[in-house]
Amino acid sequence: MTKPLRLGIAGLGTVGTGVVKIVRRHADLLTARTGRKIEITAVSARDRAKDRGVSLRGYGWEDDPVALATRDDVDIFVELMGGPDGPAKAATEAAIAAGKDVVTANKAMLAMHGQALAELAENAGQSIRYEAAVAGGIPVIKALTEGLAGNEITRVMGVMNGTCNYILTRMESSGLPYDDVFREADALGYLEADPNLDVGGIDAGHKLALLSSIAFGTRPDFAGIEIEGIQRVTIDDIRQAADMGYRIKLLGVAQRTARGLEQRMQPCLVPADSPLGQLEGGTNMVVIEGDSIEQVVLRGPGAGEGPTASAVMGDVCDLARGLRLPVFGQPADSLDAAPSAIAGLPAPYYLRMALQDKPGALAKIAAILGDAGVSIDRMRQYGHSESAAPVLIVTHKTTRAALDKALEAMQSTDVMASTPVALRIETV
Ligand SMILES: NC(=O)c1ccc[n+]([C@@H]2O[C@H](COP(=O)([O-])OP(=O)(O)OC[C@H]3O[C@@H](n4cnc5c(N)ncnc54)[C@H](OP(=O)(O)O)[C@@H]3O)[C@@H](O)[C@H]2O)c1
Repeated sequence: MTKPLRLGIAGLGTVGTGVVKIVRRHADLLTARTGRKIEITAVSARDRAKDRGVSLRGYGWEDDPVALATRDDVDIFVELMGGPDGPAKAATEAAIAAGKDVVTANKAMLAMHGQALAELAENAGQSIRYEAAVAGGIPVIKALTEGLAGNEITRVMGVMNGTCNYILTRMESSGLPYDDVFREADALGYLEADPNLDVGGIDAGHKLALLSSIAFGTRPDFAGIEIEGIQRVTIDDIRQAADMGYRIKLLGVAQRTARGLEQRMQPCLVPADSPLGQLEGGTNMVVIEGDSIEQVVLRGPGAGEGPTASAVMGDVCDLARGLRLPVFGQPADSLDAAPSAIAGLPAPYYLRMALQDKPGALAKIAAILGDAGVSIDRMRQYGHSESAAPVLIVTHKTTRAALDKALEAMQSTDVMASTPVALRIETV
């Protein structure tokens, strides 16, 4: 048998301890599958004394992750600390320079520095693997890079933040407003230390940047993603959408258009009977469309100890078997710096607004939409208070630019009682 593959694991939190458990529990299985013994030689975390619920006996310890990454008895540096910069990036760079392969779950680091790190690794003849960074336990990187490599990918979509999907589906099932469900999610420990990473769409945006790079052969471009979080979604929107046969999801969409790469992470309406519409709670879903496969739907746990550690170990096993692939599916120096096209493709939109209760208000709004070239598919008034009349409009396909023009014109009239909410209706 070939010599053992030796791991150095930096970060012993949720994911790191999960990886230690799998290596210990499945030692024989991993050897049978890869033909090599997979062992942990050393680990690193901040607090050496912390009880992590798993035995670390027999492993070396390093306070400094860079020291761990460069040890002679480490073949693969497993980075599970997190953070776009700081020790994670420093140790990843040090590992590559020292001739090690890297396995990481760190979407923030790769979304921000993926291009530079991929070039560094490929020039040095090393691999960076990151299955766990996107949609947790779902093997989506592998599906895109390997299984679907014969397709021209036309669109990638995903619900990739379980916390947001939990909040949106819980709002719908409980009838509770956003703030109450946000507090519930916080009490359950579902939110990141900085909740804006979740509800602001940033975490899911990091994942989308990595998927679209592989799908379209472009440099990872997090800054080029149009991001909007779920904070402005109201229970009223959820109810009205449901009434029309839709559900609201924080949906990431990437596709190539004639004007460049369109990448969006924003709350969208999707048909309630579609796979995306039926997704409940913290589960993730990625939908990949290609010229030969039409559509592949992958669904599974997007986070948590077991699923994320499973993805890390999938990468470790690939390296143990000798599988070496470019970081983003094709050599990093051949990736295209595609311009970003913000919401270039037309779509129908859902508009909700409250109008002053005065004669001609609705006609004024309809005229503004018409002047901007936005045609109305459906319109209805619902509920009614003393002074305001809530109105719901579904448009035919229109560009975001035309819609924005209309929304701006509406604001300068004397009939608006609230700022209009506009949500894209995604064809899925
Ligand atoms: N949790 C998930 O479900 C999930 C899913 C997908 C991807 N990820 C990604 O996986 C990575 C790890 O996430 P996690 O949830 O496991 O995080 P976590 O529970 O907060 O654990 C982070 C670990 O890193 C260690 N650490 C932090 N700074 C360090 C430093 N300067 N030197 C050495 N060790 C340091 C911490 O040490 P101490 O324990 O001593 O404080 C801790 O063990 C992140 O990139 C995250 O985005 C997580």
